[in-house]
Amino acid sequence: MVILRTENLCKTYGKNENAVQAVKNVNISIEKGEFVAIVGSSGSGKSTLMHMLGGVDRPTSGKVFVEDQDIYALNDDKLAIFRRRQVGLIYQFYNLIPVLNVEENITLPCELDHRTVEKEALDEMVKSMGLEAVRTHLPNELSGGQQQRVAIGRALITKPAILLADEPTGNLDTKNGNEIMELLKASNRKNKQTVIMITHNLDLAKQADRIIHIEDGMIRDGNDARMDENVAGMEESAAGTDENVTETDEAKA
Ligand SMILES: Nc1ncnc2c1ncn2[C@@H]1O[C@H](COP(=O)(O)OP(=O)(O)OP(=O)(O)O)[C@@H](O)[C@H]1O
Ligand SMILES: [Mg+2]
Repeated sequence: MVILRTENLCKTYGKNENAVQAVKNVNISIEKGEFVAIVGSSGSGKSTLMHMLGGVDRPTSGKVFVEDQDIYALNDDKLAIFRRRQVGLIYQFYNLIPVLNVEENITLPCELDHRTVEKEALDEMVKSMGLEAVRTHLPNELSGGQQQRVAIGRALITKPAILLADEPTGNLDTKNGNEIMELLKASNRKNKQTVIMITHNLDLAKQADRIIHIEDGMIRDGNDARMDENVAGMEESAAGTDENVTETDEAKA
């Protein structure tokens, strides 16, 4: 069953000579329960695409359907409810609320939806994110990796049908990155969650069911071709960054 699909999705920032076509005519279709990796070089439009898929950024033209509902045809209130109930979005730059502590940031989506979080569920999330020692700290008292894990906890706490993760391991070392990847995979399996993950990390991308390659705002043809071919272009752009120096054996263990 298709849970998410786009129709000629486009996003242009700015006007006239300053216009940037960040996403161009994207047509993708994602099955319920699928784990998809989105790869592409910096500035290729990955975050822009993800924000439109998650209902946080209106397309310039084109449509996003979630379970056959055209989400941008909803009014703002209904769109907000859709986001809170169906989507978990892990932002590339975290978007934590500076005046809320770790626990409060994690439980925020539930608070906004007038749902209470069971203490046990919160404890478990804090523990699985390795944040026990900092649970009452504010974001500016946390390391980059800790902030990233708060952002992940906040996205997972509602058990969303669709999890959108923008470089969820970008600020983590190999070990922590692999742990988060295992957690996302477990969540995908256990809750039949659809996961769409942006990554520059080849080893992580290869663990997905499918890789979608975006280049200059467009989906590169042949996404259903062999994965090796799809990731070939990544090697070049990814080469030289520490993040990609992962121990494959460890990742597969
Ligand atoms: N708010 C904005 N206003 C104007 N231009 C923007 C805005 N956000 C993104 N862009 C432009 O749109 C293009 C795509 O940006 P986007 O953030 O989607 O790239 P990305 O693939 O996520 O890159 P990265 O890997 O560096 O995160 C870039 O050319 C960028 O400069
Ligand atoms: Mg980005």
